[in-house]
Amino acid sequence: MAAPRRAHVEGAEALDAVFPRDVGLFADAFPAEARYRFCGHGLRIAQHHGGLLGVAAPVWEAALALCQYFEKQQLDFRGKQVIELGAGTGIVGILATLLGGDVTLTDLPLALEQLQENVARNVPAEHMARVRIRALSWGLDHEQFPSGYDVILGADIIYLRDTYPLLLRTLQHLSGPGSTIYLASKMRQEHGTTDFFETLLPRHFACELVQRDEQENITLQQPMRRCLAL
Ligand SMILES: C[S@@+](CC[C@H](N)C(=O)[O-])C[C@H]1O[C@@H](n2cnc3c(N)ncnc32)[C@H](O)[C@@H]1O
Repeated sequence: MAAPRRAHVEGAEALDAVFPRDVGLFADAFPAEARYRFCGHGLRIAQHHGGLLGVAAPVWEAALALCQYFEKQQLDFRGKQVIELGAGTGIVGILATLLGGDVTLTDLPLALEQLQENVARNVPAEHMARVRIRALSWGLDHEQFPSGYDVILGADIIYLRDTYPLLLRTLQHLSGPGSTIYLASKMRQEHGTTDFFETLLPRHFACELVQRDEQENITLQQPMRRCLAL
């Protein structure tokens, strides 16, 4: 039997030394698979609920809203350097890969194994060279990444007040004058999400509200140096 395809996890050995990986990470988890279809691509997304992944395990509604936005706008990521922050299952970054992007999926170290699995399930072998998976803890290790990505993606990553300054530092470092940032977010008043979009983000980025789903309370913003909120 052929060896399973694996996306490149850069610096995996060094990462293991800094963040020892729990080889039994999924031991108590109950995996589920959900199927989606966006932009003509069928996606099979594994979600390891109940283990140590916490909020990284499921596909959140904001991620689906961002995928729907790609579909509605017929976005084409060919030739674009793309990075996704707090990728979770990776559905958004995987779709950006299938739409032609050169994509780096990032999250905390504990989520990388799930990302690896979903990339292997959904990205055909001939496109594997355009996707990589790396640990990126906001405000801590963004300097290991280049500046000036064409596109920065974030779905439902604005929900922990303490991380907002860290996230802003990371967005400032990764972006450049030509960057477009797409932030899709459930607007959780109690977590200060509205403050983030209305007060903190506009201090650093010109922002545009590109989509608002009143029923789901999901906003998509595009800070420019550019940012979209969905
Ligand atoms: C609510 S989940 C959203 C996951 C995915 N983007 C989605 O919408 O389905 C938030 C994600 O942010 C990641 N995260 C939380 N704090 C982080 C931090 N300080 N640095 C990097 N990632 C973080 C979590 O591991 C998780 O994957």
